[in-house]
Amino acid sequence: MRVVSGIQPTGKPHLGNYLGAIRNYVKLQDDAAAQGGECLIFIADLHAISMPHDPAELHASTLELVATLVACGLDTDKTVLFNQAQVPAHAELEWLLSGTARMGWLNRMTQWKDKAGKNREGQSVALFTYPVLQAADVLLYQATHVPVGEDQKQHLELARDVAQKFNNDFASEQEPVFTLPEPIIPPDAARIMSLRDGTAKMSKSDPSDMSRINLADDADAIMQKIRKARTDAEPLPGDSAGLAGRPEALNLVSIHAALVGESVDTVLKRFAGQGFGVFKPALGEVLVETLRPISARFRELKNDREALDAILARGAARARERGRPTLDAAYKALGLVRGR
Ligand code: TYM
Repeated sequence: MRVVSGIQPTGKPHLGNYLGAIRNYVKLQDDAAAQGGECLIFIADLHAISMPHDPAELHASTLELVATLVACGLDTDKTVLFNQAQVPAHAELEWLLSGTARMGWLNRMTQWKDKAGKNREGQSVALFTYPVLQAADVLLYQATHVPVGEDQKQHLELARDVAQKFNNDFASEQEPVFTLPEPIIPPDAARIMSLRDGTAKMSKSDPSDMSRINLADDADAIMQKIRKARTDAEPLPGDSAGLAGRPEALNLVSIHAALVGESVDTVLKRFAGQGFGVFKPALGEVLVETLRPISARFRELKNDREALDAILARGAARARERGRPTLDAAYKALGLVRGR
């Protein structure tokens, strides 16, 4: 079992990242260790340059994200925690896979279409080839399990297509170069939505801070954001079928369910017939209780830049070692003789 996943350092990490992905990294690091496997989690700083960004802030936000991940429970003895920029094999393998990935596959990516909008010609090449780097990220380590939210599923399918085509074109069936990775998507929190619009994803790049719960928010901010979260005037129904056409209500109930580890139906049984005046304070409390230890630990860790840099340096050394055999095999399969 090889668990691999990444998270971008731009913007503030939020509840969607936590419930959709980070919580699963923490769970899977133990599952992997129990099976003699390993978990590699990285900060996707190379992906961050595909959009306009501030170079002066990139390293600081990378370190903050390391502090966040450790505060959420990643254990750097069990998990290899690093940033892409310190492991050149990610960028190298991306180029090698660019010969295999097809323009048509990339053109179909919904993230590309959403981010580029009507101005495709004005986008960076990196935004277009972004999923090839993402494929390299997981294929480099022979990932078997990739914990992600629903929005990354299509990128993972592309990684599988790239691996399959490369194996078909350049390797024998007995000795494939790449393992086909499986996405691990939490059924109950695959897509946490914005608190201001139940049809838009909760996102680091949303200009409104009221749209998301940041993992570093304090209790007052959390309670205020939940109080102001958009809802409708109807009371809560007795089961999930009654939430059809009520995206904001469904989102809040789903968040509650994911936090306490129950199904949406179980939560609704408890709140059936109640309005948001009762439900919102209850949700706020569960959120505050869940995030309190995380934000406290984050505040302890975030200013110790030396310790955070040391975590990344150690993680990168381990990642470079783990990735070497696959990178060598990819060069060889393509008939490239490499300098040392
Ligand atoms: P990023 O940085 O946007 O998000 C990190 C993780 O959080 C999940 N996520 C969500 N889950 C549920 N609800 C939401 N509202 C929500 N918002 C974000 C994402 O699905 C992701 O798992 N391209 C990736 C980073 C990446 C990567 C990889 C991931 C680079 N290489 C290789 C996996 C494997 C990204 O931008 O995630």
